[in-house]
Amino acid sequence: MRWLVNAYERLAGHPLRHFREDFCGTAALSCAFVKRHPDNHAIGVDLDGPTLSWGMTHNVAALTEEARERVALVQADVRDVTRPKVELLAAANFSWFVFHERPALKLYFENAKRSIKSGGWLFLDLWGGSESHACHTETRRLKGFTYTWDQVDFDPINARTVAHIHFGFRDGSKLKNAFTYDWRMWSIPEATDLLREVGFEDVHVYWESAEPETGKGTGIFRRREIGTPDLSYVAYVMGRCP
Ligand SMILES: C[S@@+](CC[C@H](N)C(=O)[O-])C[C@H]1O[C@@H](n2cnc3c(N)ncnc32)[C@H](O)[C@@H]1O
Repeated sequence: MRWLVNAYERLAGHPLRHFREDFCGTAALSCAFVKRHPDNHAIGVDLDGPTLSWGMTHNVAALTEEARERVALVQADVRDVTRPKVELLAAANFSWFVFHERPALKLYFENAKRSIKSGGWLFLDLWGGSESHACHTETRRLKGFTYTWDQVDFDPINARTVAHIHFGFRDGSKLKNAFTYDWRMWSIPEATDLLREVGFEDVHVYWESAEPETGKGTGIFRRREIGTPDLSYVAYVMGRCP
């Protein structure tokens, strides 16, 4: 959240007070945002009722009563909500990859533009690289459990990928297919061209720098015109609403 707020405030030249989180799931970003300042307001939009309910019970309920008043969760398709207009609209966790066809993504970008105040910004994150166009499995050990990313299909003709997340626990139990994603692997120029086509201005990309010795990402994203041919990367895209 801190990166997003700083990026917005650097670009817009004033504090961010009205934020929308599309595909909000459990509304973690919206809750983090309203906690930051008593004038911050957030709206989270997601299709899935049970996920929103979990977010209400665990994330929104954990806020102070006053902060809770400044978060609104809406159960709807992100393409059907345009009000209240916000200063920053974010679609994070690559969730907009759910739109497989260009006309569907175009509708989403057009609706996002209608939902943002003049001079406000859209933020998208994006995952790519040659490894993302192949089937592979990667397991990470985290505190008390393992997390496995299991990319089981990639079709080069339509750039469709299917991936699962599995969890493993210390007692040997497993949660297979805890999450499944059926995504279109949109490239950066496909997304930036379409954003410009629907009228976003100053569309630009933030690229993550890499440790010189290991090549691993540093977590530092800077505005760049030229990237590097990484096996796997996450990039950020921002565009301004006219
Ligand atoms: C990858 S999850 C991201 C959740 C959230 N960003 C998080 O980190 O908890 C994708 C979310 O998008 C929602 N979703 C998918 N298509 C949608 C649509 N057209 N409109 C609104 N929400 C949608 C799903 O219900 C799901 O909660």
